[in-house]
Amino acid sequence: MAFLPSWVCVLVGCFSVSLAGPSNLSDLEPPLWKDSPGQLSDYRVENSMYIINPWVYLERMGMYKILLNQTARYFAKFAPENEQNILWGLPLQYGWQYRTGRLADPTRRTNCGYESGDLMCVSVDSWWADLNYFLCSLPFLAAVDSGIMGISSDQVNLLPPPKNQRKFCYNVSSCHSSFPETMSKWNIFYQHLQSPFSKFDDLLKYLWTAHTSTLADTIKSFEDRDMDESGKHHPQQTDTRAENETPHILTHRYDYYSKTEAHFERSWVVAVEYIAAVHFPTTLIRTYNFQKGLPPRILVTTDVAPFINDFTTFQNVVLLLLNMLGNMDKSTGYLCTEKPNEYSSHLESSSRDYGNNS
Ligand SMILES: *[C@@H]1O[C@H](CO)[C@@H](O)[C@H](O)[C@H]1NC(C)=O
Ligand SMILES: *[C@@H]1O[C@H](CO)[C@@H](O)[C@H](O)[C@H]1NC(C)=O
Ligand SMILES: *[C@@H]1O[C@H](CO)[C@@H](O)[C@H](O)[C@H]1NC(C)=O
Repeated sequence: MAFLPSWVCVLVGCFSVSLAGPSNLSDLEPPLWKDSPGQLSDYRVENSMYIINPWVYLERMGMYKILLNQTARYFAKFAPENEQNILWGLPLQYGWQYRTGRLADPTRRTNCGYESGDLMCVSVDSWWADLNYFLCSLPFLAAVDSGIMGISSDQVNLLPPPKNQRKFCYNVSSCHSSFPETMSKWNIFYQHLQSPFSKFDDLLKYLWTAHTSTLADTIKSFEDRDMDESGKHHPQQTDTRAENETPHILTHRYDYYSKTEAHFERSWVVAVEYIAAVHFPTTLIRTYNFQKGLPPRILVTTDVAPFINDFTTFQNVVLLLLNMLGNMDKSTGYLCTEKPNEYSSHLESSSRDYGNNS
C-alpha cells in the first residue's frame, strides 16, 4: 500500500490527458442510450409493479438512464446538461463492456451477446455482466428506496437470469436483506445528494464508498470456486431448480476467459480500489476520456502490453500499468483472492509477460 500515491498519480495522470471539451455531449453517451427506456412507464407493468429484465442490454441501460434523469436536478448546480452527474461512470462503464464484447457469453455455449445471435442479450456467465448487475441494481433500487424515483419501494421487480438465480437479488427488500451494508451506503449517498448543502467532493466520497462496498460485497460469489450456488445468503436452501450444471463448474467465472483477460479482470478490481481512493470524478467527460485507455476488445492469450498492435499507445500503456498494479497487489497479498495453484501458474505467466515487480 506504500506504493499507492505514486501509482495513482501515474494512472490518474494517464486518465486525465486530452480533456478538451467535446462539441456535443450527446456524442459521449454510451451505445444505444437514445434507444433505452427513459422512464419507468416504458417498462412492462404487472399488478402495478414495474418489471425490468436487466439481462437485456437496453433494459439494464434504461435503469441507468432513468437514474441519471432523476438525479439530474441535484447536479444542475454544478454544470448544465447533467455533465457533472457523477453517476455517469456506471452507464459509461456498462456501455464499454457492451462495445468491447464483454457482456457476451464467454463460454460460447450460447449466442447470447453475439452479433450473429442475440446481440442484446447480457450473459449471466460474463464476469463483467455479473459485477455490473450489482453496480446497476443496487444503486437503482436504493434510489427507489430513497424516494428519488417517485415510486414506492415495492413497485419494482427485476427478472432473474436463466440460471444462477440465487446469486442475485431482485427488489428493494431482497437486496436489503442480502446486502444490508451496501444498500445503506447507497442510501447514504442519496441522502447527501438530496441535501441542498452537499458539496461535489463529498458526494464523490459517498459514491465511491458505496461503489467499493458493492464490489467487496458481491465479487466473492464469483470467485469462490467451491462455494455452493446458494452462497452465503441462503445457507439452508437446497432448492436447485433452474440449475442444470454442477456448482463448481459455474461459479468460477475467471475460467471462462484467456489468462490475459482474467488477469486484467483481477487487476481492474484492484485499480478500482485505487481510483476510488483518489475519488476520481466520474462525470461524463472525465469518464469518457478515461475509457479511451481501456482495452477495446476482450484480451486473448497472445496480447502482451505494451506491444498490442491494434491498441493505441494510450491503451497499451494503461493495460501495462493495470497489469503491474495487479501483480503488485498479488505480491503483497492485498486482496488475497486467488487459490494457491492458480496463484503460482498465474504469477509465472505474468512474470514472463510483464516482469516480476515484487
Ligand atoms: C448533438 O447531437 C445530436 C445527435 O447526434 C443532435 O440531435 C443535436 O442536435 C446535436 N446538438 C448540437 C448542439 O449540435
Ligand atoms: C428526463 O426525462 C424527461 C422525460 O423523458 C425529459 O423530458 C427530460 O428532459 C429529462 N431530463 C434530463 C435532465 O435528462
Ligand atoms: C422480492 O423478491 C423476493 C425474492 O426474490 C420475493 O420473494 C418477493 O416477493 C419480492 N417482493 C416483492 C414486493 O415483489
